Amino acid sequence: MLLVENVQKSFRLPDGSTLPILNVPRFAVAAGEQLALVGGSGSGKTTLLHIIAGITRPDTGRVEIDGTDITKLNEAARDLFRANKLGYIFQTFNLLAGFTALENVLLGMSFCGRKPDEARARQLLERVGLGKRFDHKPAMLSVGEQQRTAVARALVNRPKVLLADEPTASIDSRHQQQVLDLIRETCREENVALVLVTHAPTVSEQFPRVERLEELNQLAAA
Ligand SMILES: Nc1ncnc2c1ncn2[C@@H]1O[C@H](COP(=O)(O)OP(=O)(O)OP(=O)(O)O)[C@@H](O)[C@H]1O
Ligand SMILES: [Mg+2]
Repeated sequence: MLLVENVQKSFRLPDGSTLPILNVPRFAVAAGEQLALVGGSGSGKTTLLHIIAGITRPDTGRVEIDGTDITKLNEAARDLFRANKLGYIFQTFNLLAGFTALENVLLGMSFCGRKPDEARARQLLERVGLGKRFDHKPAMLSVGEQQRTAVARALVNRPKVLLADEPTASIDSRHQQQVLDLIRETCREENVALVLVTHAPTVSEQFPRVERLEELNQLAAA
């Protein structure tokens, strides 16, 4: 479902020098597979997720999702592809402050070129325990509720791949397990491949597969 091959990424610094971050020969995830991605802070986990999502372009290499190499698409095609095939739960939730929980989830649908399915948006919000919070804007939601809204938004288009960047880092431990279970159950039900970044051993040990970024990345070994 997901194949990253020979991907290299360097950042250009203000002084004109380049800072190599990633050199990943191969990273493959099967349809419906669930894995935890772990690694030190600054090791490149978010950068790798951004490259998989087409938010950041790699310097070289290919990123194949459901048979399409997204590095070959132009920006508009990549945006449409991302909206239809990928869900992304950001490390910082990225909810829009001026819109309610329901509108935030519905907005996730507005970029995919299909008819918005409000029933699906409501059903997902109910699923994450926000059935009574449809009309709350982010400022009127607890941090855990904001994260749960972001979970609903990421799943609303029935993606093939869900990328989750520390989705439970800013919520209390009781809701942490609840949100994690919800993400994993929904992915299982809908056969979504899940790559979930975490620093918490209590989270990663629940996954059948755990990848260390330092092992995927040849630069870390060098
Ligand atoms: N736009 C950028 N320009 C220059 N350097 C960058 C840029 N974005 C990230 N970096 C550097 O790339 C490295 C990897 O960053 P990244 O955000 O991928 O780390 P991470 O593994 O997600 O860390 P964390 O666990 O703290 O979230 C860091 O050392 C960071 O300083
Ligand atoms: Mg990160």
